Amino acid sequence: MGEAGFYNEDPEYVKYKDNTDLDHIPGDYGPPLIGYTFKYVQQPYESIERMYKRYGEVFRYSSTFQKFVVCVGPEYVRQLTLDSDKVFSARMGYEPALKHFFQGGLLMRDFAAHKFHRRIMQSAFKTEAMRRYVEEMQPLIDTGLAQWGGSADLHFYPRVKELLLDIGAKVFLGLDLENRDTRQLNEAFLAMGEGTLAIIRKDWPLPWLAYRKGMNGRRYLDKYFLELVPRRRGKPGTDMATFFSNETTDSGDLFPDDIVSKHLIFLLLAAHDTTTAALSMACYYLAHHQDWQERLREQALALDGTLSYDELGSVPDIENTFKEVLRLHPSVPAFMRRTVAETELGGYRIPANTPVQIPMIYTQRMEEWWGNPNSFDPDRFAREEHKKHPFMWAPFGGGAHKCIGLHFADMLFKSVLVSMLCRYRFRHPHGASFPGAVQHFPFPKPVNELPLVLEKL
Ligand code: HEM
Repeated sequence: MGEAGFYNEDPEYVKYKDNTDLDHIPGDYGPPLIGYTFKYVQQPYESIERMYKRYGEVFRYSSTFQKFVVCVGPEYVRQLTLDSDKVFSARMGYEPALKHFFQGGLLMRDFAAHKFHRRIMQSAFKTEAMRRYVEEMQPLIDTGLAQWGGSADLHFYPRVKELLLDIGAKVFLGLDLENRDTRQLNEAFLAMGEGTLAIIRKDWPLPWLAYRKGMNGRRYLDKYFLELVPRRRGKPGTDMATFFSNETTDSGDLFPDDIVSKHLIFLLLAAHDTTTAALSMACYYLAHHQDWQERLREQALALDGTLSYDELGSVPDIENTFKEVLRLHPSVPAFMRRTVAETELGGYRIPANTPVQIPMIYTQRMEEWWGNPNSFDPDRFAREEHKKHPFMWAPFGGGAHKCIGLHFADMLFKSVLVSMLCRYRFRHPHGASFPGAVQHFPFPKPVNELPLVLEKL
């Protein structure tokens, strides 16, 4: 396929329906039609554990109106993500859930085309660029966090979500907070987030439909970015939109406007809810485990309130907290793929076009691999418990689709948390029970949006 083909042509395998001929694989589909949808969404560990104990590491399963094969354990994470035989399509895995909102994004491209497209991101994630991002995000974090202290009824989740959108507007798009586009863009992203959760997944012209609102958000973003990209061509900016707009293909050509635009939209989506989830779940645990909060604060205060790029490696307890939160509550709770040719998993024949999922949410809590798997214990990473298998802890995936923003996420997580720890002591409100209810899909978050009591230091 030539370069033009990588932009426009759909591979043959996208035309086929899911294979549902899975009777030779152990497992069951649960109640007719809805399958295990409610159990899986509400109690993913219990639901997967029950199946695993009954049927083994590879089983057939059904949820959200789809039949698929589930595999648990680090060896399958290796097989699916490294994909040495090039049989697992990420695009076809994620399409049923994310098709319209993630359209044209990197995760929705496979194999040679994916490699070709991933190049668009290379300059934006080089060390020099990353240094600038840390410097640019710090004033926004300071301004945002300074406002939180005065709030009598602070809910951490929506606040940090908003803060990260503001940071995204600046670092990804080069827009200042005062720019009126920033507000509208943030609203469009929030509408898309709601849209991914919609039960009625139809783009009908009914203004109250969440899916419709999400699609209107996507249409607004498509239009906005299509105008933004040409303005960034040939310009010297240090934001990601400028890097993407000036990146060239192997043949030295610029990527077309609509392609750059789609990659930017996906990047913002991939960056935002994932990191919001990690920060929220970290503060959920730290508000309860005050001993850990104090320990992390000591490390943060030693930095003088802010974290520079060169200091990212000097906060091991904060880093281990990040790792532990992503182990317990991976921001991408399940990796999804669909086979493009017949293959084998755990000795079972898996026909072409079969959807396959790896619930990281369970694999990263397997008692075969982790001691006290359900407890919050960042020190397990200091003890190197995660080194028994290279894929037993893999919240950023692996292989060709491995998260390109993992260092950015680490930087952002640490910068926000260091500022928070240096500014406030925080706890759950009196009477709040711990552990509280946690939502797992599409991204983890405390169901009550994490009300916190902040005490200024
Ligand atoms: C805690 C934060 C994050 C987590 C846990 C996370 C996790 C992941 C995972 C698991 C994948 C691969 C999914 C798969 O193989 O099925 C992925 C892909 C991706 N992530 Fe992240 N991510 C995070 C933050 C970010 C950030 C901050 C950015 C951008 C600045 C980003 C950009 C991307 C992109 C572009 C892809 C697609 C890569 C490809 O298909 O080649 N992510 N992420």
